[in-house]
Amino acid sequence: QTVNIIGYPFSIGQPIDGVHLGPDAMREYGIVQRIKRDAGRKVRDLGNILLDNSRKGEQFGIVKDPATVSAASKLLSEKIQSVLEDDSLPITIGGDHSLAIGSIHGHTARIDDLCVLWIDTHADINTGESTVTGNMHGMPLSILMKELEKKRIPGFEWAKPCMTAKDIAYIGLRDVDPEEFKYIEDIGIHMATMADIDHHGMGSVFERALDTINPRRDRPLFVTWDIDVFDPSEAPSTGTAVRGGLTLREGLHLAEQIAKSGLLVGFDLVEVNPKIGSQEDVKKTMDTACFIIEALLGKTRRANVYQKR
Ligand code: ARG
Ligand code: MN
Ligand code: MN
Ligand code: MN
Repeated sequence: QTVNIIGYPFSIGQPIDGVHLGPDAMREYGIVQRIKRDAGRKVRDLGNILLDNSRKGEQFGIVKDPATVSAASKLLSEKIQSVLEDDSLPITIGGDHSLAIGSIHGHTARIDDLCVLWIDTHADINTGESTVTGNMHGMPLSILMKELEKKRIPGFEWAKPCMTAKDIAYIGLRDVDPEEFKYIEDIGIHMATMADIDHHGMGSVFERALDTINPRRDRPLFVTWDIDVFDPSEAPSTGTAVRGGLTLREGLHLAEQIAKSGLLVGFDLVEVNPKIGSQEDVKKTMDTACFIIEALLGKTRRANVYQKR
């Protein structure tokens, strides 16, 4: 299966300049060559989705520019659908995490019975009522969840809610807003926090998450991976870094287990901001992102050989 890279150069879901430069910075750093060389996969780079990063939509309450986020996400959903139609594996490189509206919507439109792992420091399930920042990258799941349909902010009519609590699990949480925690508990989404990872280890946390959303291991799996789940020592160049995150080894083990499951149908890697930190910081963050992408695509630490696919 050919890996299709989609660049999503979008920053309107959050206030810090630079995250829209993520996809091109990753290309320049060599992501395409690394996937070919180290994961042994065929790669096609589809380039960037053409997006406008000037704010011109109106606010909804304190929510900043949902119309621009909606229009961009719709383009991504359509792109994902065309890649899946082609029987390829889409990977979307962001850009801010509001893009998950488009990537998950696009996958559910083409793939029956999809389940999702949300790998993040944050829960990204704020609604128009609960958000404190008004930033849409903290809200994508409230647009996608059926249980929150009544609390949806307007403007996303093209994307009918396509997920329920039994379709999604979180891994890596450590900075969840109080109102978000209420939603998660009310709806009943499985969450593995950093405390759970400390206590049980990543291997068992991963198996438990799949036991919850994919007990027979027969549902196609989509992964949306926010680089800020890593400790800032591994991924400093991101807009909402929080100390106490994943080590590279924990991240690699998780990515390898996901690849080994054979269930992965697509993924996102989001929130790499090449304008944050020193050149060294940016390089390290992109290196961490490349490690994870390669592992998700089948590279292991067993030996420098790979199965031809
Ligand atoms: N919960 C905070 C908010 O609503 C932070 C969200 C951070 N999201 C992210 N994709 N980095 O703004
Ligand atoms: Mn995050
Ligand atoms: Mn293990
Ligand atoms: Mn996120």
